[in-house]
Amino acid sequence: MIAAMPTYAFPVAPQVWSPYPCPNMPARRVADSAQEAALKASAEKIEQSLTLHTGIFGEHECQRIEEFVDVTAMRAATGQFRGQYTVDATPHRTKYFFGNGYTYGHGKRGNEELLPVGAVDPIPVWIEQFVVQPLVEQGIVSKGWIDSVVMNDYQYKGQIVAHVDPPQLFERPILTASFFCPAQLVFGASFDPERTQPPVYVQPLPRGSVLLLDGYAANDVTHGMRPEDMFGTRRCSIVLRHVRRDAPKLGFPQVQDPQRRCLGEEERSRLIREAQGSWRDPTNTIFYEVQQLSVEVWKVSEGAEEREHKATWRMYPREHGLVCNGGVLDSIRGSPPERLEWKPLNKQENDDHHHYNFAFVWQRADNQASD
Ligand code: OGA
Ligand code: MN
Repeated sequence: MIAAMPTYAFPVAPQVWSPYPCPNMPARRVADSAQEAALKASAEKIEQSLTLHTGIFGEHECQRIEEFVDVTAMRAATGQFRGQYTVDATPHRTKYFFGNGYTYGHGKRGNEELLPVGAVDPIPVWIEQFVVQPLVEQGIVSKGWIDSVVMNDYQYKGQIVAHVDPPQLFERPILTASFFCPAQLVFGASFDPERTQPPVYVQPLPRGSVLLLDGYAANDVTHGMRPEDMFGTRRCSIVLRHVRRDAPKLGFPQVQDPQRRCLGEEERSRLIREAQGSWRDPTNTIFYEVQQLSVEVWKVSEGAEEREHKATWRMYPREHGLVCNGGVLDSIRGSPPERLEWKPLNKQENDDHHHYNFAFVWQRADNQASD
């Protein structure tokens, strides 16, 4: 006997029609709860790597800062910034870069590079004084650490799409101070019109608050602000960051380790040619005489008549540059260069983030008396 066929002829939902009991249902429930658990775990990690400070900027402080934001907008509108890349105005938000600017935007994701000095204006004194200084006084950042500031001035319908602040450019934590209307920062949310993926975590940002993003929240999940996350018609965020010492720089070879960039024959010959002659160290006590590939090192002591011969070094042309006494010269600026920057042959860690890591620096010395 063949089982009787269903007699109904109207369309019904597949689960009613299916010969299997409760198709999909159990499996989907398992998947849903696994995903739910993952989202919950993610939300917890986000929460744990965020710190919100409220009450650093009170009503009076907010008002003063907001007045300076207005002045900044006015200065931009009247073309008073010198840096070519200080101001980036789009219909619903204007971005200002201070201290250090970088390439960004479509096609740049993951490949952002620092702009050369002078491309953006320095950090304004009012930001140092009224935004950074209170954070230093509260022990939230150390003095001098903030060397890159981005100010976002959002108008009605303003947004910043989901992103991760370029990890190759900026140290963590990332600090964001909020002014004018309150808003919320959403983590892990999609920005498609359907809002397919709702936020995994929502962080309210009251006026005058300072949010620190670190660890997981800064690196492993996106953050952004959709138009519906702004509760008013104008919001300004001031993003405070520290540039990594090894951040990639626009127009410079993408290799931080000098031992890995191979120079052409031309370039190597030029290094040798330009290194010829007399050099001195920045303290004016050590002198170097370069002839061909040999370097005579002389010391001049205070009050002494005669300079003292200290050593003879040899320069070794290598694939990646000229190697001499633990330093490598892999590039020169200017012709003739006034300064040779020898990088350490063995990359070493240097805790002083404010200085480049040179093994030694030579400055051009004339053959006459030292200046
Ligand atoms: C940013 C950013 C958030 C904000 O500029 O990188 O995440 O609150 N801004 O404006
Ligand atoms: Mn960001």
